[in-house]
Amino acid sequence: MKIIIFLFYAICIVKGLPPLNNSSICKSTFCEIENDCRCSSTINPITNIDDPAPQFIAITVSESVVTTLYHNYLVPLLYGRTNPDGNSIGATFYVNHEYTDYELVQKLYLHGYEIGVHSITKNSSQDYWRHASLNDLIEEFDGQREIISHFANIPSKDIRGGRTPQLQFEGDLTINAYKQSGLEYDNSWPTSSNKLLLPYTLDYLSTQECLVSISCPKESHKHFWVAPLTNIRGNNNVECNSLASCLIDGTAEEIANWLINEVDRVRTNNRAPLVLRLDSYWFEFTKNSLEGFTLFLNEMSRRNDVFFVSVQDIVDWIKNPVPVTKYVTPVHKRSAKCTPISCALKFLNGSERYMKSCVGCPRTYPWKGNPLGE
Ligand SMILES: *[C@@H]1O[C@H](CO)[C@@H](O)[C@H](O)[C@H]1NC(C)=O
Ligand SMILES: *[C@@H]1O[C@H](CO)[C@@H](O)[C@H](O)[C@H]1NC(C)=O
Repeated sequence: MKIIIFLFYAICIVKGLPPLNNSSICKSTFCEIENDCRCSSTINPITNIDDPAPQFIAITVSESVVTTLYHNYLVPLLYGRTNPDGNSIGATFYVNHEYTDYELVQKLYLHGYEIGVHSITKNSSQDYWRHASLNDLIEEFDGQREIISHFANIPSKDIRGGRTPQLQFEGDLTINAYKQSGLEYDNSWPTSSNKLLLPYTLDYLSTQECLVSISCPKESHKHFWVAPLTNIRGNNNVECNSLASCLIDGTAEEIANWLINEVDRVRTNNRAPLVLRLDSYWFEFTKNSLEGFTLFLNEMSRRNDVFFVSVQDIVDWIKNPVPVTKYVTPVHKRSAKCTPISCALKFLNGSERYMKSCVGCPRTYPWKGNPLGE
């Protein structure tokens, strides 16, 4: 018997076969990046002290793309800003549908930013997301991917990532819905500020802390990536991942210093990519936040190892990790046509919604179950 077991493992090792139960403990010996597999881990693939990994920061926004967000915050904060290599900085927008202006979505896309999926309804009820069926979630994610691709006139193959509303997660069900919606990674699962995991795949069981409020994946999802939502420390050292929920206030300098310290803590540690969630209501309701965030960005651009990129760029980097001297910010050369038109459309219960489209108006306001508004 012992010999048979020994032979079985010997064959597994020789052939590099995974163990029988795919969702079991991950070992880097059978989960290799060359095969699009990475164990959940806090180990940075680049460990050279003299030429370390770039410190990545992904600015992410998960809300409707509307004129005020675009003109008051995105253009002044992001446009024209560059990384140490001189290329434009990246950022990621997880877009939900209601009120979104798809002409602006296309502008963001053409500017090189990543467009991802939030959902169609962004329903504010946590209960809805906790009990949604697989079909509900596919209608929400795949439907929104279709809406963006159609009305912003951008290729759906470029829409690769998702973030769930209020970071609600239904474990394997959510991942299955993502996969069936053509998405390749998730950016909703928080990881604590003292266990900063790097992106990994769900081929094997994740070691990421499973918060009580969500259910976590237990099955094997080959080549599906998790880009952890890295927590930082806010007021009273409370863990947070949306700048608004960190509840820091003060002068612009104080807000900037808080963010600089949080980045430096990681930069002098494992250099896990940081994900910052930016909300327009932070700028609206927290005094000095816009000035503070601008100061923070200015200070970061003086460091030659800090790169602002999209979440997708981070996942692409870890598939082919290079140290800071070899890193070049990806330039996403894109083209798309837009014939902007403003559509006044019937919404639920006969109310009205305006929608900017790049490709003409649908018959009715697009929504869950009818993404093209037919
Ligand atoms: C949100 O979900 C609740 C069920 O939990 C549902 O009654 C409501 O209609 C949904 N709202 C939207 C805008 O989809
Ligand atoms: C639409 O109307 C129905 C009944 O009149 C109501 O139950 C429902 O909540 C309304 N939905 C919205 C989104 O206003």
